[in-house]
Amino acid sequence: MKKPVIIDCDPGIDDAIALFLAFASENLDVKAITTVAGNVILEKTSKNALKISEYAGYNVKVARGASKPLMRELITAEFIHGESGLGSITLLEPVRAFYHKNAYDTIYEEATSCEGKLHIIALGPLTNIAITLLKYPDIKEKINHITVMGGSTELGNSTPVAEFNIYVDPEAAKIVFNSGIPVTMVGLNVTNTAYIITEDLEEISTYKNKVSDFVVKSLSPLFKFFEKIDFPGVPLHDPAVVASVIDENILETKFLRVDVETKGEFTRGKTVVDVYGVTNKAPNVNVALKINRERFIALFKELVKRYEI
Ligand code: BDR
Ligand code: CA
Repeated sequence: MKKPVIIDCDPGIDDAIALFLAFASENLDVKAITTVAGNVILEKTSKNALKISEYAGYNVKVARGASKPLMRELITAEFIHGESGLGSITLLEPVRAFYHKNAYDTIYEEATSCEGKLHIIALGPLTNIAITLLKYPDIKEKINHITVMGGSTELGNSTPVAEFNIYVDPEAAKIVFNSGIPVTMVGLNVTNTAYIITEDLEEISTYKNKVSDFVVKSLSPLFKFFEKIDFPGVPLHDPAVVASVIDENILETKFLRVDVETKGEFTRGKTVVDVYGVTNKAPNVNVALKINRERFIALFKELVKRYEI
């Protein structure tokens, strides 16, 4: 049976590619996309989500959520994702309208109708999920799992210690991690190793469909940036997270205590992961420690290849 999922995201180049993978998988039933401000402002992430689903030919509800973090000003990432959020790619203007409900009410609606089976895949700052939990406390029993792209057991990318999604809205992350709902955190310690290399892109370019075109055009310009910081390729953060929900054997995880730094002078948004159990605090999060890159890239290629034109 297909897993019913909601993808909460801030497209974003890698969010867009993650959505393409989810639409193509026979294991997932994407009930809705909910959008949040993050990589670019909400107006753009929302419009991008509509454009991406239409480009892929996937008819899905797109519901708009928070335009800023719970307690802070928004920080965006145009330096990676470009002014529009989709790098240098221009997609057609959408013809469909946004869903008439906001992200929070849509998540609640789907959680209720999926009768406890809904899996949320969160690929942006966790603002929408936190607001939903605050607005609908009874939703906890209705959600099967939340898989989060965010945080790290090691270093960060927004600051030396903080990953972008958690850095943007640390208070929201704290609420989600301590919600009591089963949460898996797939952080940079893992997604930085889920990289694509030029040889992979060369192969993908031979598929000659819409999505392979998008993947090649959007990722090619990023190689320079990552070469400069000595990465072996371009990390596919959000696609790796979607892949880990499609194929549960891609990740190795451990149930650990994770606290989110909300006050530190230099450490805002750091996910403090108690790998050795030194705090004696009860574990709260399944933390991804390793990804099988070969298996991930093979699945990635298989799903991209599925698009016919
Ligand atoms: C995360 O930040 C965003 O820029 C990406 O879309 C991804 O979700 C990686 O830190
Ligand atoms: Ca994202």
